[in-house]
Amino acid sequence: MSARVLVAGDANLDLVLRGDVRPRFGQAEQYLTDAALVLGSSAGICASGLARLGVDVGLVARVGTDFFGERTRALLAANGVDASEVAAVPGATGLSVILSDADRSILTLPGAMATLTIEQVWDAVVRTGATHLHLASFFLVPDLAARGAELLGRARAAGLTTSLDTNWDPREVWDGAAGCLPHLDVLLPNATEAVELAARLGGGRPADAVAAARLLASGGPLVVVKDGGDGAFAVDGEQVARVASLPVEVVDTTGAGDSFDAGFLTAWLEGRPLAVCLAWASVAGSISVTGAGGTGRQATREELERAGAGRVGQSR
Ligand SMILES: Nc1ncnc2c1ncn2[C@@H]1O[C@H](COP(=O)(O)OP(=O)(O)OP(=O)(O)O)[C@@H](O)[C@H]1O
Ligand SMILES: [Mg+2]
Repeated sequence: MSARVLVAGDANLDLVLRGDVRPRFGQAEQYLTDAALVLGSSAGICASGLARLGVDVGLVARVGTDFFGERTRALLAANGVDASEVAAVPGATGLSVILSDADRSILTLPGAMATLTIEQVWDAVVRTGATHLHLASFFLVPDLAARGAELLGRARAAGLTTSLDTNWDPREVWDGAAGCLPHLDVLLPNATEAVELAARLGGGRPADAVAAARLLASGGPLVVVKDGGDGAFAVDGEQVARVASLPVEVVDTTGAGDSFDAGFLTAWLEGRPLAVCLAWASVAGSISVTGAGGTGRQATREELERAGAGRVGQSR
């Protein structure tokens, strides 16, 4: 039976502004050169990446009763994601305003996305008949961070497989992930997040991302760590399996980690060897940076099979 994935977490648009984006207060008016309103959110981008790779995928999240909420749902549906569990609640939809220059500044309103509860996620698991549950950006959804372990434990007990990409904790407290570890099949942090998460396990601050990944893996899951242009690695028992990123022309790295997750999970859910999962993930992440926004350029299955196959031998 092929997997039916439910992604739970954030759902919002990104308003990406380019040009003279460093604000000068005192009522100064500045010219932009470009403004684009595109699908954002780790969960939304990951779900879109999975759909593009042919995976049967739905998203459970909360948006507000406004234009941004409607647009978020419409873009998800256009990307092939089942958005029937993206319900609208009173209030504003979350929004990220991205001031994009050589560097980036991101201003985020969590809005309605923060109201999602684990009971609502569980109801969606049951209604959609999901066989895999992926949690994304769980620090942006307080109930997921507080009670994610309970939700994941319930999912596992019902026979689902599970994965988590916490992303950054804007409060920098990093609470809640430790309890999730025994209920997770795959944990997908980036290198900085891996160190922060491992530092909260009680054994002190790990020296580097590999040490952090080993600590996190000792709690249960396969740990796959993303490291931007340096690629990624997975801790598999004593082994560290590495994969390089593709040498691509970088347009925008927004959501690269979420597209990476989609590539990894697609291969992993098909039972493919770890080296293939990493190769597919790396190709999916690298291709995503060649387009603007998180879903401007996401890999197809043909691209993963073609480029990924040639990379498997190089990945360890
Ligand atoms: N500069 C780059 N060149 C090539 N590939 C890249 C680059 N940056 C990211 N990638 C690809 O994307 C993957 C994930 O990148 P990254 O480490 O930025 O994840 P992340 O921090 O979780 O991203 P996100 O901002 O989506 O949360 C990398 O492993 C690589 O495959
Ligand atoms: Mg990330």
